[in-house]
Amino acid sequence: MNNTEIINKTVQFVKTTLQGAEGGHDWFHIERVWKNSKLIAKNENVNLFIVELGALLHDIADSKFHNGDENIGPKISRTFLENLNLDESIIQHIENIIKNISYKNSLESNIDKFKSKELDVIQDADRLDAIGAIGIARAFNYGGFKNREIHNPTIEPKLQQSKEEYKNSPAPTINHFYEKLLRLKDQMNTKTGIQLAIERHKYMEQFLDQFYKEWEGKK
Ligand code: ADP
Ligand code: NI
Repeated sequence: MNNTEIINKTVQFVKTTLQGAEGGHDWFHIERVWKNSKLIAKNENVNLFIVELGALLHDIADSKFHNGDENIGPKISRTFLENLNLDESIIQHIENIIKNISYKNSLESNIDKFKSKELDVIQDADRLDAIGAIGIARAFNYGGFKNREIHNPTIEPKLQQSKEEYKNSPAPTINHFYEKLLRLKDQMNTKTGIQLAIERHKYMEQFLDQFYKEWEGKK
């Protein structure tokens, strides 16, 4: 099988596996991350095949939707790629990307963390999809999925959270902007990622200004 056939097979596998997924973590999220990964990769010296496979498989089994199990995604990807007879070095790299891409893992200590340029690219593309207009839509969809409040002025955002606190937080969705979304702009890895994040970040700030105006009943 050539690389294009492998990518096509992977697209089919991801589409099938994610049928019925929460609206912010469905095939269309993967497609956006895949596209943005390719866009960012144009300006980076990376292995495009690994970038594409990593982007396509990065949320194949998000631990949030699998009782917190962080091994299931890497495992499913490994089995899938082994069946396609890919080189062990590629399989290992994809597994490492999936294990290390998530925001919550960046809240843990950084010693001995896996790093690669391919991970940097996909992580930026995933983070871009968490901010801007799409980011706002995804956040409220997830909040609704979890039956969270939209906003509650009596509950302050928690800016210092451990990974465990972050994962288990039942906070209103507006708090998620301060706890994660507004922080992503300064955590981008690549030049293109930073550029794209700036406009999306501004849009979220405007959204929040308008939100509070309306909340207070101001003109
Ligand atoms: P990761 O999966 O990278 O660790 P998150 O768990 O923060 O990152 O989830 C990814 C996306 O899911 C977020 O960008 C957001 O759209 C949504 N999400 C996750 N947690 C929350 C939350 N507490 N409130 C609203 N949206 C959330
Ligand atoms: Ni994702």
